Amino acid sequence: MSTLQRRDADLFLESVRLADVAERFGTPSYVYSRAAIESSWRAFDEGLAGTPHLVCYAVKANANLAVLGVLARLGSGFDIVSGGELARVLAAGGRPEKVIFSGVGKGAGEIRAALEAGIRCFNVESEPELVRLDAIASSLGRRAPVSLRVNPDVDAGTHPYISTGLRGNKFGIPHERALAAYEVAARLPNLDVIGIDCHIGSQILDPAPLLEALDRVLGLAAQVRARGIPLEHVDIGGGLGIAYRMGEQPPDVAAWCRTAAAQVSSAGYGIVMEPGRAIVGNAGVLLTTVEYLKEDKERRFCVVDASMSELLRPALYEAWHDIVPVAVRPGEEKAWDVVGPVCESADVLGSDRVLAVSPGDRLAILSAGAYGMAMSSNYNSRPRPCEVMVDGSRAVEVRPRESVASLFAPERLID
Ligand code: LLP
Repeated sequence: MSTLQRRDADLFLESVRLADVAERFGTPSYVYSRAAIESSWRAFDEGLAGTPHLVCYAVKANANLAVLGVLARLGSGFDIVSGGELARVLAAGGRPEKVIFSGVGKGAGEIRAALEAGIRCFNVESEPELVRLDAIASSLGRRAPVSLRVNPDVDAGTHPYISTGLRGNKFGIPHERALAAYEVAARLPNLDVIGIDCHIGSQILDPAPLLEALDRVLGLAAQVRARGIPLEHVDIGGGLGIAYRMGEQPPDVAAWCRTAAAQVSSAGYGIVMEPGRAIVGNAGVLLTTVEYLKEDKERRFCVVDASMSELLRPALYEAWHDIVPVAVRPGEEKAWDVVGPVCESADVLGSDRVLAVSPGDRLAILSAGAYGMAMSSNYNSRPRPCEVMVDGSRAVEVRPRESVASLFAPERLID
């Protein structure tokens, strides 16, 4: 479902005119659609219906409390990678028994907090982590439910920075060591082995590697079971891509869910998924204002008030985000490099974008709901933007713009 629509000249998110949001809250600002988040989550939940399942939203994609709260109300589970994310989930009303804890470097304090909260499962990535988890569980007098994240050695066919399932990657337990790790886990007295998981990468547009990984994980699960270690669930991770530009064809969520659920349930397991981007990516935009137009013989620069500090993806991954006017107005269209004010040549939000723009115009950078605010920084002492959630005809500020004073308030001068 697209909740972003143009009505005549104006861009709307649900029933809210984005020009009004920019006016009321200023720019740069992130704006999310509640209805888009809900319908994307439901596509997973309904696609898995009929099989015992849990859709665990990957909090890292967008950790705003309002986003987590909307999903918690739907009954979502959560995939966390830190104690900070656990605290956010609990503060937003998420249920600990629907939380799974992924990540290659879980700290002792983080493990303790998760055990005390009573989370559903630890996705363990190494044998030393198993040993640490067992010791902490013992010290707390608790049992730790575990799944082993295996590295299926499958090429997700995506950007190398967001590909995680290949041999030589830091993630997961190598496929060929997995059985030995399961035997270690089964012998540790304070662990309950309940699952197997993998996550091969992100922004995956071709379903073939996902299917290959599922196949390899199911093969391994059968071998684990044959050694007398019964598993309850198979967690196939996240990674489903979204359309960032016209013509991009992401895999169909419902079809992928149905296929995966059929295979996993016929092997006798429940299924867990960890989608992040596919739930929030296309539910958010970043609004920005044109500050200056700089034209010379070589290039044309459209300097806006958003930057790599607010949206790092183009600078870090050369990622494409469509950029469109918030209100279309007549004027000569030219190709612009849309750049921010940050002092880095990489601070380019989009190259060669054909736009009719003047200073003061508002632009919307699309598909910015995932890994946008979540990866923002204060580089160049820029306050983080506000976040607004649209719900029908209301627009609620769910995080105010940071103030400059708050950026250095905790810092101290020395004599
Ligand atoms: N599960 C695990 C264990 C993960 O590491 C990730 C993402 C997910 C689930 C969710 O993946 P998704 O469904 O969102 O693809 N910053 C990058 C993406 C990094 C993804 C890291 N792991 C970007 O902006 O493209």
